[in-house]
Amino acid sequence: MLLPDPTDAPPASASFERRPPFRLGTEEPLDVPAMLEGALPGWLEGALVRTCPAVLHTDTWRAEHWFDGLGMLYAFRVAGPEAVRYQQRLLESKVAASYREGPYKPAGFATPLARSLLRRVFEPIPEITDNANVNVIPMGDELVAMTESTRQLAVDPATLRVKGEVAYGDDLGAVVMSAHPHLDVARGAVVNVASRLGSKSALLVYEHGLRERSRRIVGEWRSPRLPYVHSFGLSARRAVLVGHPLTVNPLSLLWSNRGFIDHFRWRASDGTRLVVVDRGSGAVREHATDALFVFHVAHAYDDGDDTVLDVVAYDDASIVDALRRPALAARVPDLTPRPLRLRIGAHGVTREPLGDVGFEFPVVHYKRVSGKPHRLIWGTALEGAGELWRSTIVRLDTATRRTTTFSEPGWVFGEPVFVAEPSAEREGQGVLLAVGTHHDQKRSAMLVLDAESLAVHAWATVHTEIPLGFHGSFVRG
Ligand SMILES: [Fe+2]
Repeated sequence: MLLPDPTDAPPASASFERRPPFRLGTEEPLDVPAMLEGALPGWLEGALVRTCPAVLHTDTWRAEHWFDGLGMLYAFRVAGPEAVRYQQRLLESKVAASYREGPYKPAGFATPLARSLLRRVFEPIPEITDNANVNVIPMGDELVAMTESTRQLAVDPATLRVKGEVAYGDDLGAVVMSAHPHLDVARGAVVNVASRLGSKSALLVYEHGLRERSRRIVGEWRSPRLPYVHSFGLSARRAVLVGHPLTVNPLSLLWSNRGFIDHFRWRASDGTRLVVVDRGSGAVREHATDALFVFHVAHAYDDGDDTVLDVVAYDDASIVDALRRPALAARVPDLTPRPLRLRIGAHGVTREPLGDVGFEFPVVHYKRVSGKPHRLIWGTALEGAGELWRSTIVRLDTATRRTTTFSEPGWVFGEPVFVAEPSAEREGQGVLLAVGTHHDQKRSAMLVLDAESLAVHAWATVHTEIPLGFHGSFVRG
């Protein structure tokens, strides 16, 4: 990754946050009725709660990468078959206060931090962000907002106010946790991967009970250079980490003012190491395959002694640079990584394309297929067309390789969240909830699609602009 030169600041016209889908309608909290068109399924009760990068500059600070935008929590609340309310609130993080008031600004993903030489000497590892703009997940009785950090925030589901930092009562130390923990439905456990940065650098797979906050190490993979790990796969017996060749020597983080990802380098000739951790014994095995880059694992399952890992894969890590401020000001890139099945077994790794239609933000019928074979994956393709994205919601049947798609001209949608019908008898029986923003009408909406046919059930529309974000959850009411 190249370090942006702070003296080479883009002109004001390069403010990508001035246009949808990055633009925020208002920084003020909102709690307003949405206009409902169509019919909601009678069984759908609860709230779609999401987080997104929303504030991309303040008077004293500017995000140099989309991922560094200050977070906003928002919810579409289904209150009966004919009523949806929209609620939003800027994330009340310590980092947000620091960015507004200065002068000390903790480290971001790819935004250099402002820190004096003296402070660097006495605090070699900078304070790590609590800007939880990547995901929101219920963990037991807590609704937890998270980013790739040592810090996670507990959120009041009714008000979207931050209640405090999640307190882990263990001695794992300072570990950077992924924002894609798995919920092991069968065992009632949270399983996640963390990076331990320091002289004994390692990727750790840890777990804890849904209502516990004491982490137990399941397995540990030590390496002098650690890959950037955004998500991972969990089967019934194994955890699978994608060791793609975007790697860091963790010692380079010491005394540095650069953004987190700016310490990582793409080393294609290293190839990719798929790291399989046995959840029972903690035994770790590495399997080599060619270089690829993965933000999102779609699913994993055991097939006899083999492990199957479905991912959406880019050829390389250039997508990280394509989402920096100067690049986004010029054009938006394709977010269309290809769905790929990796089969890991005694004979090595085989690769099998799962179709020709690339998409991001893969989701599955999680509660039903957790740890088991699956058939369906949904996601959203974002194709760059100059300054605009064209979005397509995709349903992929991995058995037939057939895709079904939905798009609506002028609308840019993000991740489709799958919500199963409570009485579902088959995989995929339920709806998709996708939030989108219109290119030029200052409108946003939660779209409700039938998850099997992608037919429209309903639109819940509000007259504001919700910035495109990453992930969220449906919290049943
Ligand atoms: Fe993600």
